[in-house]
Amino acid sequence: MTAHLKIDGPDESNRLDGMAQGVIHTPADRPEGALKVTGTATYAAEWQLDGVATGVLARATITRGKVVQVDVDAARALPGVLDVITDSRLVRNPAQGMANESPVQEPETVSYFGQPIALVVAETFEQARHAAHALQIRYETEDGAAVSPEQSEDIDLPEGKQVAQGDLDQAMGGAAFTVDQTWTTPGHNASAMEPHAALAEWKDGKLTLHSSNQMLKYNRNEVADALGVDAEKVRVLSPYVGGGFGSKLGIGPEAVAAAIAAEKLGRPVRVVMTRQQVYETVLHRSASRQRIRLAADEDGRLLGLGHDFTVYNNVGEVFSEPVAQATHFTYPAAHREIVHRVATVHRVPTGSVRAPGESIGVTVFENAMDELAEATGIDPLDLRLRNIPDRDPESGKPFSSHMLAEALRDGAARFGWEGRDPKPRARLEGDWYIGTGMAAAVRVNTVMESKARLCLNPDLTAEVETDMTDIGTGTYAILTQIAAELLGLPLSQVTTRLGDTDLPPGAGSGGSWGASSAGTSVYLAGMKLREEIAQKLSIAETDLTLKDGMAIHGNRTTPLSDLLDGPLEVIGHVEGGDAGETVRQATYGSHFAEVAVNRHSGETRVRRMLGSFACGRVLNEKTARSQCLGGMTFGIGMALTEEMLFDPRDGHVANNDLAEYHLAVNADVPQLGVHFVPERDPWANPMQAKGIGELGICGAAAAITNAIWHATGVRVRDYPATLDKIL
Ligand code: MOS
Repeated sequence: MTAHLKIDGPDESNRLDGMAQGVIHTPADRPEGALKVTGTATYAAEWQLDGVATGVLARATITRGKVVQVDVDAARALPGVLDVITDSRLVRNPAQGMANESPVQEPETVSYFGQPIALVVAETFEQARHAAHALQIRYETEDGAAVSPEQSEDIDLPEGKQVAQGDLDQAMGGAAFTVDQTWTTPGHNASAMEPHAALAEWKDGKLTLHSSNQMLKYNRNEVADALGVDAEKVRVLSPYVGGGFGSKLGIGPEAVAAAIAAEKLGRPVRVVMTRQQVYETVLHRSASRQRIRLAADEDGRLLGLGHDFTVYNNVGEVFSEPVAQATHFTYPAAHREIVHRVATVHRVPTGSVRAPGESIGVTVFENAMDELAEATGIDPLDLRLRNIPDRDPESGKPFSSHMLAEALRDGAARFGWEGRDPKPRARLEGDWYIGTGMAAAVRVNTVMESKARLCLNPDLTAEVETDMTDIGTGTYAILTQIAAELLGLPLSQVTTRLGDTDLPPGAGSGGSWGASSAGTSVYLAGMKLREEIAQKLSIAETDLTLKDGMAIHGNRTTPLSDLLDGPLEVIGHVEGGDAGETVRQATYGSHFAEVAVNRHSGETRVRRMLGSFACGRVLNEKTARSQCLGGMTFGIGMALTEEMLFDPRDGHVANNDLAEYHLAVNADVPQLGVHFVPERDPWANPMQAKGIGELGICGAAAAITNAIWHATGVRVRDYPATLDKIL
C-alpha cells in the first residue's frame, strides 16, 4: 500500500491536535540518545571490518596549475604501504553540494591549495600518513590565480538572482532618513564534531559505503557518478552522523577515494579526514561584502531598500551563497534593488553552511535596521513592527502564515525590552559597558520529496524505515513520535531505522526541511493505516481513536491486536508541490541579547540571550529547543570569534583547526532562553509543522553586534566583532 500527497494547497484538517496518544510535541528523549552518550552508536569510521586498510589523502600544495607527475616510488617503498591511488576520478572535485552541481574539472587540474591529488593506502594510519608526506608530486604552476574576491577579475551576476523594482536612487534622495553602509562577513567552516569519514567495502561487485552524510539518496547517486558505476551497485549507510551543518550534504573526496582503493585492493579501506583536511578541503561558507541601503519616511516606514553583495566560489562551481534569500520578502518597500555578484576565486570551494543565505544576509540586514532605528530615533523593536508586510513585497503573493510581529512582541516581553534607554554607552558597571540589542530571525521553509515505510505488527510493535538521516537534529525521536501518535502506541513499541539506502528514499537533512518532509511521509503512512483499521471496524477514520494499543469508537473498545491478522505495511510518499507558486512561506523569530564589553580590553561577553521562534507545530519540544540553542550558539561564534583566514599568497586556510578557528565554547555561552510562539501553518503539510533547524542562527549575531553598539557606541561592520575592532 502507498499513501501519496503532493503539497500544493492548504490542509486545514489539523488532525494531530486531536490525537489521543499525546506524544506529539512532548519533550521525548531521543531513542538513540543512550547509544550516543555511551559511545556505542557506530559512526562511519568505527565499523570493525576484517582486514581494513587505511588511506590518507595527499593534497595539492599549489593554488592553480596541473599535476604533471606523481612519483610514487619513494612512498611505495615505505613499510606497510599497500598502494598509492592516483586515479583521475579522485583528482576531480567530487560533488561539494547537491547532486549534479559538481563541476567537471580536467582530471589533472588543480584549482585550490589543499585539493586532493592521491590516496596513500597502508596497513595503519601512521604508515599511510608518513608515506603521504613522502609522495613526490610535480606540478606545472599557473601564476596569478586570484585567491581573494578583491583580486578576482571574473565577477558573475547570475540571471534570476537580481531584483530591480521602482527607483531606489530616487527613493534614497528624497527620504527623510537613510542608511547606506557596507558590512563584511568572513568565511565560515561548518566544523562538525565528526570529521568527514568513509569506510568502503566491495563484495560481489557491489559497494557498501559507511559514510557521514546528510542526504543519502543523492549521495548514493553522487558516489555512483564519481565512480562511473550503476547506482544499484552502491549502498550508503549513515545511521549516525556527528553533525553536518551543510558540509555533508554532498559526498566528499574521502568517500570516492575509499571506494576506489577498496575495489583496487580487494579489501575494505577507511579514509578519515584530519581536522586540518576538513578546513582545507571541505566546502566553506563564502565570505561576503554587503552594501545595504535603506530609505525611510518620517515614521520609519521603508520606502526603499537595496542589498548589493559579493560572494565567491571556485571555477565552475554552481552554488553561490543566497545572501538575499530573506531580503526578498522580510520588509516592504516599493523601491527595491538586489544585486548578487559571484567572484571566481581559487580557494577551497564554497557551499551550504548553517542556514546558507539568511545566516549572514539577515544578520547584516538587521544591523542596518538597527542603524535606521538610531537615525530615526525610533525604538528598534517598534521600527520592525512598523515594517511588517501584509504580502510578499516583491511577488505580491500572500504569506502562508506570518508570525514575525508575534515573535518580536513575545521575545521583547520575555526579555524585558520595554523602557530601554536608547542612548549608547550609557550604562557602565565596574569595568564593563552594558548594552542590549535585538534582531528579527527569518528563514525560508520548504518540503522535499520523501518516502518512508511504516509497518504495524500484530504484536503491536511498529517500525519506521527510511534512508532519512539524523545529523544530531532529533529525526529518530520525531519520526518515532509521529508513528506512535497515529497508531496509538507507546513510544517504546515503535522502532525507527534510518540512514541506509536500502530503505525507502527520504528527503535527507538539509535546509531545515527534514522534519516537515520525512515527518510528513510517516504521517501519510500512519493515516493510511488508520483508514485500514477504521475500515475493519466499518467506521470512518475520523471516528477512530487509537490509544495504548486499543481502538476506541463510540463506546466500544477493541484491542488493536484483534484487528491484525498479519503485519500491515504502508509506504508514505510526500512530494514538494507547487505551493510556493501561490504563497510565500517562512519561519520567523526574534533575538534579544545583553552584552558586557570591557572598557579596557574591548572584550565582549554575552550575558544573556533570548530567542522566540515560530515554526508551525513543534513536534518535539526538547529537540526543537536544542536546535535553537545550537543556532544561537553559532550566532555567538559568528558575532565574536568565527573567521576563516586565507593566506593572501596562495589562498590556503591558515587557521585550520579548532584551536585557531574559534567556535563559541561553553565559557562563551550564557544561559540561553528559547521560546516557541504557537503557530499552525496549513500550507506547510498536514502536520502544519515547519522546519526549525536553521532559524536559530538567522539574525542571532546581529542582536549581539547591535548590543555592542548600545554598550559602546561602536558599530562593528566587519565580522567578527573582535576586541581590536571595538577598542
Ligand atoms: Mo544545511 S547548511 O542546508 O545542511
